[in-house]
Amino acid sequence: MSTETGKIALITGANKGIGLETARQLGQAGVRVLIGARDKSKADVAAATLKAEGIDAVAVKLDVTSTADIQAVAAFIESNYGHLDILVNNAGINSEGGFAFNNAETVTQAELRQTFDTNFFGVVELTQALLPLIRKSPAGRIVNLTSILGSLTLHSDPASVIAGSKALAYNASKTAVNAFTIHLAAALKDTPIRVNSAHPGWVKTDMGGAGAMMEIVDGAKTSVALALAGADSPNGAYLHLGRPLPW
Ligand SMILES: NC(=O)c1ccc[n+]([C@@H]2O[C@H](COP(=O)([O-])OP(=O)(O)OC[C@H]3O[C@@H](n4cnc5c(N)ncnc54)[C@H](OP(=O)(O)O)[C@@H]3O)[C@@H](O)[C@H]2O)c1
Repeated sequence: MSTETGKIALITGANKGIGLETARQLGQAGVRVLIGARDKSKADVAAATLKAEGIDAVAVKLDVTSTADIQAVAAFIESNYGHLDILVNNAGINSEGGFAFNNAETVTQAELRQTFDTNFFGVVELTQALLPLIRKSPAGRIVNLTSILGSLTLHSDPASVIAGSKALAYNASKTAVNAFTIHLAAALKDTPIRVNSAHPGWVKTDMGGAGAMMEIVDGAKTSVALALAGADSPNGAYLHLGRPLPW
């Protein structure tokens, strides 16, 4: 029996991509995984796939922009498990049609608001709703999927590898999530809960595209490591495969 057996994790956007693989790897470690998807039928399919692989997976409908869904998931976890050990805020969108441009002069209010609704406001609202349940875990872990594209230090360096990728809505939403990580980690520093930002790498998913450098199995590793980190876990860090990124 795995040392992780008995733990419960919720992964948002877990019907495909990095989220599905994160759920798979946590499940392989013995964690019961709640598969969050905004389309319940997609959550059902993903949970069935993982169950067929021997993983303890449960489908939950969760659109992170829906207060009703967030409250329903919190009530479901409360009544069925009484606590939550791991929250992986993985769901994310890029509504600007790519990354390799600078749209600071043209990005629309609709793109900004839609992106922030999912990538930032949803993360904060869901996390706050679940915090009472995470506090009941002996060692709660919150993993926020951000991106190297949220790094202001790198964006302000014209020579950096991301200098040409300035999709403002996506990038600023990830910078905002990084701020949430730092603020929440500080707020919870005297508890056993640890809060960190994960950059998965440039990964071959629907979002990352076929030209990305990393396979999905590796793209999940940063999230999984932070979700399963022990008492020596970092808190308020911004990491890719264990290495810190500049804020
Ligand atoms: N791939 C990369 O290279 C890369 C790099 C850096 C960071 N990231 C971050 O890693 C995370 C996962 O990305 P990915 O590459 O796996 O993307 P993906 O394949 O496009 O998957 C995104 C997931 O988020 C879900 N989602 C979108 N809006 C949602 C909402 N309102 N409520 C609930 N779920 C929602 C999607 O559901 P549907 O299937 O219903 O659309 C899907 O399950 C994202 O936060 C992304 O920003 C990715």
